[in-house]
Amino acid sequence: MSNELLYSGKAKDVFTTADPNVLKMVYKDQATALNGKRKEQIAGKGLVNYRISKLIFQYLMANGVETHLIENVSETEQLVKKVAIVPLEVVLRNAVAGSFARKFGQEPGKRLATPIIECYYKNDALDDPAINISQATALEIMTPAEIEVIEAQTKKINDLLINLFNHINIDLIDFKLEFGRYDGRLILADEFSPDNCRLWDQDTHESLDKDVFRLNKGDLVSVYDVVLQRLAKILGGSADV
Ligand code: TMP
Repeated sequence: MSNELLYSGKAKDVFTTADPNVLKMVYKDQATALNGKRKEQIAGKGLVNYRISKLIFQYLMANGVETHLIENVSETEQLVKKVAIVPLEVVLRNAVAGSFARKFGQEPGKRLATPIIECYYKNDALDDPAINISQATALEIMTPAEIEVIEAQTKKINDLLINLFNHINIDLIDFKLEFGRYDGRLILADEFSPDNCRLWDQDTHESLDKDVFRLNKGDLVSVYDVVLQRLAKILGGSADV
């Protein structure tokens, strides 16, 4: 059956298509914080995130990163490969911020000597608890070989994105990725938008990401639009919101 709602997430809905191996992902005008406990409708958010994620996924794919993206069908809608999502949120940190700053009593913005990769078990009922490699392998969420692939892919994506954002005067502080199994391989899935990363302007150090919503620091769509306009300038694509 085609066009059936398969999954309704915090920021996207996922529908079936006529092809059993293809899904349709629709970006929503919804922002959440505190693992969904705070929820708001924000007109234009779906469109700006769709456009940012599209540009970033296309850039990554052009640089040899395999992703689930097949094609962009209309504003806010993408066709993606149907992957089996690995229930891990993979976080990479280049600098101190957010939960890491709170947990270790560190100054936000401090550069880390080496990037850190952390994993969280995707489970809303448990509030996405931190999970380490031996826990993830013992629970058979991942094999050690798969963890190596995910770490290598995450570091490669970090290098590519640091370079990209440097060109538009933005520091990539941290980000979260999700991977899926497809045809025996692990490929990048979900999205990459200011909802799931921290982007700081290199001159003003102001947040250009979801921290403006989390901390009530400004209008989310106009801040995300700054990122879109800068990306569109170097990557091309439609930048109207
Ligand atoms: P944290 O500092 O709150 O742990 O977040 C680290 C990065 O991961 C930050 O860029 C936001 C992103 N993230 C998500 O995309 N989803 C989540 O559920 C969480 C907790 C973080």
